[in-house]
Amino acid sequence: MKPRIKSIETKHMEERRDLFHGLKDLDRRSFLKVSAAAMGAAVASGLGPFQSFQPVTVAQDAAPSGAGPSFRFAYISDSHLYEKKVNDRFVRAILRAVEDVNSLDPQPDFVLFGGDLAQLGQPQELELGAQILKGIKAPVQMMVGEHDWFFDMGEKWRQLFGQPTRSWDHKGIHFVTLNSIIEKDFWTERRMSPMERMQTVAGLDNAVQGRFTVGEPQREWLEKDLAGLKDDAPLIVFSHSPLYKLYKKWNFWTDDAEDVQAILKRFKQVVVIHGHTHQLLTNRIDNIHFHGMLSTAWPWPYAPEGMPELTIQMNRADPFNPNDGCGDGEVRVHADGLVDKVYGLWNRNPITVARGYTASRGKEDAPPKPNLGSF
Ligand SMILES: [Fe+2]
Ligand SMILES: [Fe+2]
Repeated sequence: MKPRIKSIETKHMEERRDLFHGLKDLDRRSFLKVSAAAMGAAVASGLGPFQSFQPVTVAQDAAPSGAGPSFRFAYISDSHLYEKKVNDRFVRAILRAVEDVNSLDPQPDFVLFGGDLAQLGQPQELELGAQILKGIKAPVQMMVGEHDWFFDMGEKWRQLFGQPTRSWDHKGIHFVTLNSIIEKDFWTERRMSPMERMQTVAGLDNAVQGRFTVGEPQREWLEKDLAGLKDDAPLIVFSHSPLYKLYKKWNFWTDDAEDVQAILKRFKQVVVIHGHTHQLLTNRIDNIHFHGMLSTAWPWPYAPEGMPELTIQMNRADPFNPNDGCGDGEVRVHADGLVDKVYGLWNRNPITVARGYTASRGKEDAPPKPNLGSF
């Protein structure tokens, strides 16, 4: 008897079913198997071969000896997971990022997830994300994004990951994560359902919602948290939205950014790393160096106005390549607290933004310009 020929759709659906079956009880041991199967299928369907995360030589530290060791951490952000019955492309993308980071040698000290794990804050979306992140070998630190929060005001997220506002010390650096996506209540008066509220926030450029804030209680917490630190203490702050005002209409914006910056002003140098904008962004406001990181799901276009001078523009995204403009990243922290930032842009060479670039306000160490215009 002749073997039955399966259609491409059938093969795709079978492979997708196997992928999600494998994700059901994901632990570290089974992760590699599932991830390899997902990558294999992507290659077979013409989406690969992927360029995996580049081995990186750790930069020589120019800081005086005894100031503290250099180390690195990895960054994955904005996976925007839908429930698995709706979309599998974004699942594959975050698996890819996890695999890339797991293959770093030596391993990063920790991995920061930059927010927007879920697309519509659904418990199933967040659970799926939590399951996938369990596949990361290094310890994981979580930050919250608006897509994780506004369905149940963070209830499920907190249940899975704890409080979004916290700080810790690692090898001489003080780290802080803030919840920067707090909004004024626009939903009660309008009698919105949780889903209507979530979808309103997810539509960044609608006129119904307000702007993101860190808010007074968290700012007070931040002041207290930093009170014991000397002015020259190296400080790295993680926020989801940029802690400056970039483009209001798209909520690339934190409304009380100046108040947060005022709290950080006394420090010699501060590094702020954010997700949310899904693009290569670099900015400096006085002592504060800002770094926007990539999404694993999709690239946002650049804002039509108000772009920071030090922004590193991506190449124009290739419309035939669903991974173009997406990726993960790595941050090399030096003993002086400044960082080299590596963007793992998939299917392209990694781009490094060296600490000298922001420190010199763009006069030194400029990364190579992309050869195409960008959106
Ligand atoms: Fe996002
Ligand atoms: Fe976001």
